[in-house]
Formats: sequence, structure tokens, C-alpha cells
Amino acid sequence: MKTEILTVLRETDGYVSGQELCDRFGVSRTAVWKVINGLKEEGYAIASLPRKGYRLEGAPDIVSESELLSRLETRWLGRRVVFFEQTDSTNTQAKRLAEEGAPEGTLVVADMQTAGKGRRGRSWQQAPGTMVSMTFLLKPEFAPDRASMLTLLAAHSVAGAIEAVTGLSAAIKWPNDIVINGKKTVGILTEMSLSVEQDSIHYVVVGIGINVNIREFPEEIKDVATSLYLESGSQVNRTCLIGEVMKRFEADYEQFIALENLTGILEDYNAHLVSMNREVRVLDPKGEFQGISRGMNQNGELLVEKEDGSVVCVYAGEVSVRGLYGYV
Ligand code: BTN
Repeated sequence: MKTEILTVLRETDGYVSGQELCDRFGVSRTAVWKVINGLKEEGYAIASLPRKGYRLEGAPDIVSESELLSRLETRWLGRRVVFFEQTDSTNTQAKRLAEEGAPEGTLVVADMQTAGKGRRGRSWQQAPGTMVSMTFLLKPEFAPDRASMLTLLAAHSVAGAIEAVTGLSAAIKWPNDIVINGKKTVGILTEMSLSVEQDSIHYVVVGIGINVNIREFPEEIKDVATSLYLESGSQVNRTCLIGEVMKRFEADYEQFIALENLTGILEDYNAHLVSMNREVRVLDPKGEFQGISRGMNQNGELLVEKEDGSVVCVYAGEVSVRGLYGYV
């Protein structure tokens, strides 16, 4: 009921009468009043006037199930939200839920992770109340070797969402870091579980960590990491950002499934690519080399033109790509 009333308040410009809420949800005046009071206690600014009703005038920067659901504009992604004040890792929780049969699109969000996971077995640091830590569950029917493309899709959706919500320019460091003014702001960790026969996908979880309202980074990473707050100078509403990511990923994913490749996002992805037409060093365990980045292709590989004019298709996997000067 809380989510439903919050959604109506959010969708209405002026006042909504108490009677209208009662009629709409088939509940008593007291029940409506209790929900409104509960919302006020959570920090929502709700004006109430006799004979006019209630009007939402401000929402706190809390990430909660009701707050999220009342902002979602998706059809299936995030329609089931599992919210934790604190958990080990949203990826771990999403995998647990998947094993228990949770539906595709289930979204796990945490205000705080105690054992956030990064790529290559690294840990992902967490500051309470200032980050977006979320993971969603997908059950694609395509072949397992295409799953890494979901990370590229997610990078594209997140970059667009950041730009839409903050007005900042977000760049993508292939394959899936988002950088703002040359510093890492977002990390994405996609994990896959295969069927018993190992020939099809059981499920995939896509975990996204966004440095949103962090005001200060530890000395050892402050030259390579930043937050939306530090770059924009203003506090960013985290649920609004999550809602925008969900909306964009749902659209990107559906297009990807229909086209069976990344053509739909290709042009925009490359327009956001930080290394586009710049010199890069490819750190391949089989041998390092340098070249000019010519953008990603429809299969998600980075095209790198070597000095002799030959073009190498670099597959994400174990390879990492660095700019010649610093992190990007
Ligand atoms: C990276 O190394 O850049 C990837 C970091 C991914 C962090 C996110 S936070 C939400 C989700 N849960 C995790 O444990 N990790 C991912």
C-alpha cells in the first residue's frame, strides 16, 4: 500500500484527496493516514490540507523498496525488488535468489555491502548511504559465450543514465568502467551460472556499483576514483538514478535480444568511448602491444589498429586496455 500511495503522490502535481486514495485502494481513512504518517517519519515532505488532501513536496535520499518501486518505469526489470539495509554482496544475494527460483528481472539493492566484489577477485569498497549497489537477474536464452556482452550493454545504459540524471559527461573505458573527467565512477561485475550440461545459461547476474554521493576518497585512490557528487557539486538522488538505469537497460537488453548483437547501441557506445581514436596499450597475457583504438564492433570486441595498419579484434576476457598516459 505504501508503494501504491507513494506512486500516486509522485504522479500527481497537486493535491490528492484522502477520499480518492481510500476509493482507489479500497481502504479506510485511518489506513491512508497511517501510511502518510509512516512516509513522513521516513523523511518524505508531505503537505496536508483539509478538504484538499495530500501533496508530495520532497523525498529523502533513502533507498527503499517503496521508494524504488514508485519510481520504476519498466515493464519487467526491477519489478521485484529485494532491498537490504546491509548485506554481504548484492551479487551473492542475487545468485542465492536465482537458485531459489526468483523471476527474471529481480533487482537486489543494498544501502551497504560488507563484502562487495570487484572484478578479478578484487573487493569493492563501500561507504554506507552514498553509493548505488545493485544487481539484477537475467535468464537469457542465448549461448553462454555472449554473456560478456551484457556487461557492455550495462555500461552503455549506466553512462546514459548518469548523463540524464546529472548532466555530467560520462565516458566508457572499454569494456565496462565508467569514467568521469578521467576517473573511475562505476564498476560492473557480471557473473554467470551455466546449466548442468554446461551448454546453456542458467542465469546471469549483473552487478553495478556507482560512486554517487561520496565526498572524499582515501589518499591511495583519490587520483583514479571519483563520485557524481564530487564531479557535479550536488547531491544525486540514488533511487532516481537506479530507476533511470533500469529503464535504459530494459530497452538496451530488448534491442540486443531482437538483433542478436550490439548493433543497436554501437554508435552511441563508441561515442562515449574514452579511448576512441587514441593510442592504447593492450595488456594481453599472450603479449602486450600498442595501437590506436578504433572503437568496439557489434560483437563487443575492441578494434585496435597497429602501426603496420593491421587491425586486431581484442576480446575482453583476460585482456585489459590502458591509455598510454594513466588510468584511461
Ligand atoms: C569492478 O571491479 O570494477 C567491478 C565492481 C562491481 C561492484 C558492484 S557493487 C554491486 C555489485 N555487488 C557486488 O558485490 N559487486 C557489484
